[in-house]
Amino acid sequence: MAGSIGMALAAAVLLACAVVTAASPRFTINDVTYKTGDYVAEAKELLDTHTNQSAIIITNMGGRVEAIRLVDPATNQLRDVIATHDGNATAMITNPHWQGEILLPYANRIRDASRSPLPHPTPPSLGSRQVDDRLDPTGTMTAFHGMDGSAPIGGDPDAPTYLDDEFKARTPCDQYSHVVVDGNTHIQLFADASYPYVQIYTGAVSTWGLQAIALEAMSAEMDAYNNYNGLHILDAGEVFESSFGVALL
Ligand SMILES: *[C@@H]1O[C@H](CO)[C@@H](O)[C@H](O)[C@H]1NC(C)=O
Ligand SMILES: *[C@@H]1O[C@H](CO)[C@@H](O)[C@H](O)[C@H]1NC(C)=O
Repeated sequence: MAGSIGMALAAAVLLACAVVTAASPRFTINDVTYKTGDYVAEAKELLDTHTNQSAIIITNMGGRVEAIRLVDPATNQLRDVIATHDGNATAMITNPHWQGEILLPYANRIRDASRSPLPHPTPPSLGSRQVDDRLDPTGTMTAFHGMDGSAPIGGDPDAPTYLDDEFKARTPCDQYSHVVVDGNTHIQLFADASYPYVQIYTGAVSTWGLQAIALEAMSAEMDAYNNYNGLHILDAGEVFESSFGVALL
């Protein structure tokens, strides 16, 4: 009898715990420290406690994204959708390709910030941005159908076709969707109407031996400080809000 009262009390305690758990926040932010040899990387992990999906941002190195873990619907397992350093702080801090220390998307390839602004013709409805030998956009674009999903990017896994190119949507959208097909999994970069440009980089294998494709949501055209295409200029107190994200389909 005493035994069964004890069990009833234990059950009541468990129930109380369950109520507390249900009322706790779904998303938590946790401190994570990676330490390897003399190297220390401090991070914040944003965790969805219902699904264990997470994003890990290194905070003592300019806000670099170390990992995004999403549930792969094909396997129901968590999967890293960006290239990580597997918790190796030495690799994080000494990675020569992890340069710039910039988390947010930005218009890159500003070749000569001191050059005066140039008049820039608005191109017609377009696809691939044409660049000159300084990699500045020329203002012309050609329709590009190489990313319609009907064929791989080209080359083979050891030597994929090298692309480090910017594309612009030919018509504006409320929500952009770019999908990388990787076996059974479709990895989607989605972005709101602020991101009509996307940079596609396929050189990870030749540059640092990683099977990876980088899709970069871009709010403005490369060299935007000179050509103003997509450039947002904020006065004091003004706010620019936008959103983009990654999903496994
Ligand atoms: C999340 O991770 C915790 C700790 O590893 C585990 O107990 C729990 O079952 C996981 N939840 C899901 C939905 O996978
Ligand atoms: C960690 O990264 C460093 C630098 O890339 C590498 O030399 C080392 O072997 C790695 N350690 C482990 C345990 O993988």
